[in-house]
Amino acid sequence: MTDTTHLIGLLLGTEEDWPAAFETLIARLGPVTDGAGERHAIETERVTIEPFDLRDRPRHDLVIDRLAYWYYHPREWLKKVALMDDVYLLNSPFTFQAMEKHAAYCAMIRLGLKVPRTVLVPFKNPPENARYATTAARYNQPFDLGAIAADIGYPLFMKPYDGGQWIGVNRVRDEAELQAAYDASGERLMHLQESIEGYDVFARSLSIGPETMVMHFRPDLPMHDRYAVTHDFLTPEIGDEVVTIGRLVNAFFRWEFNSCETLVRGGDVYPIDYANASPDVAVTSLHYYFPWAMTALVKWTVFCVVTNRTPRLDLDTRHYFEIGDRDDLTYDEKLAAYRRLTDEYFDTERYRDFCASRLPHVDEMVLDWVASADFDRLLVDTVRSLYPAHEHDAFIGHFRGLIGQWVTEHGAAPERLTS
Ligand SMILES: Nc1ncnc2c1ncn2[C@@H]1O[C@H](COP(=O)(O)OP(=O)(O)O)[C@@H](O)[C@H]1O
Ligand SMILES: [Mg+2]
Repeated sequence: MTDTTHLIGLLLGTEEDWPAAFETLIARLGPVTDGAGERHAIETERVTIEPFDLRDRPRHDLVIDRLAYWYYHPREWLKKVALMDDVYLLNSPFTFQAMEKHAAYCAMIRLGLKVPRTVLVPFKNPPENARYATTAARYNQPFDLGAIAADIGYPLFMKPYDGGQWIGVNRVRDEAELQAAYDASGERLMHLQESIEGYDVFARSLSIGPETMVMHFRPDLPMHDRYAVTHDFLTPEIGDEVVTIGRLVNAFFRWEFNSCETLVRGGDVYPIDYANASPDVAVTSLHYYFPWAMTALVKWTVFCVVTNRTPRLDLDTRHYFEIGDRDDLTYDEKLAAYRRLTDEYFDTERYRDFCASRLPHVDEMVLDWVASADFDRLLVDTVRSLYPAHEHDAFIGHFRGLIGQWVTEHGAAPERLTS
């Protein structure tokens, strides 16, 4: 007999692969028994979009949101269920505004991270507003774009302050390219940013709750090849620093499902992009790392609903700034102090205990499923829906190979799954 049932809502756009994987794994998981011996059934349901009364009570305990960053009706539903009903959300709709890069750059600069030098310049084309001409005549200072760029140094990056998916990102090598990029920016607000030239590794870390996977990313390759399957491509110290930076950004903004991009050059880690409301978790992008992502998503969401984790909407920035503002701490000491705050926020120790004692079978369950014909069908269907017919065989072979490698490697030691 089950004592409690929890509903996990999926608020989705066009994705089909990982939601199907997540739904399958939650269904296979079966009831979870908590420390007090109470049994918890967990169900999933896709959230639909419809009129809602602000006083309606949602049926969901937790919602994984992948849509509200561009679709505003469900975004307002998320705010309502967060404020009124304590529904646990991945991610917080309230810090979506900070999903523009700018706020995250500001906060991380104050916390002492090595964000490359960044300057925000006014719009090339003014906003459509009848009051603009008067306001601009009174208050807009003329500025010398070329001088700002020369001061930062070429090459530099000009990119939208709120960008995503590389749209509008320019690597600018001289003043002519600078002017052309600015002219093309139109009504988009742009940052000029120092370029981290000649970096050794582009490390992209995907975090889900307190779980983080740092992956070697190759941004110039096609989507299916961007994540290299390489281990130990960073020293343990640098790897740990990258993990801490990702967790810090996430705990600071209350983001629990996010990816963080850092450029590693020599012994320095430069964070450049770390606000992705809806990070890519497609099986055709993550391939080898996909089972890891699904395992982490199952464990973290189950932990949240079974332990009735309280959503925290307030940011408590003061705790972070008190560390960031200190002059007597080194960069490493600050990172260590932030790491403690992130462990507090994510309740990391309790989460690890929960996984070990309440979910000891999950790793093996994922392994069994990923090795099954059922998973292979999902992979084949995904490839067929994404690629042109003449490429199906090649891509099915490619992804089967990578998933097969994961299965083989984890068959012997499934406990490595979330290490
Ligand atoms: N400061 C920088 N130094 C070096 N490369 C950069 C820098 N900023 C951006 N890039 C390159 O441009 C790409 C896109 O920029 P990014 O800030 O990640 O924007 P988006 O949000 O569109 O992904 C990065 O993945 C990286 O390859
Ligand atoms: Mg990026």
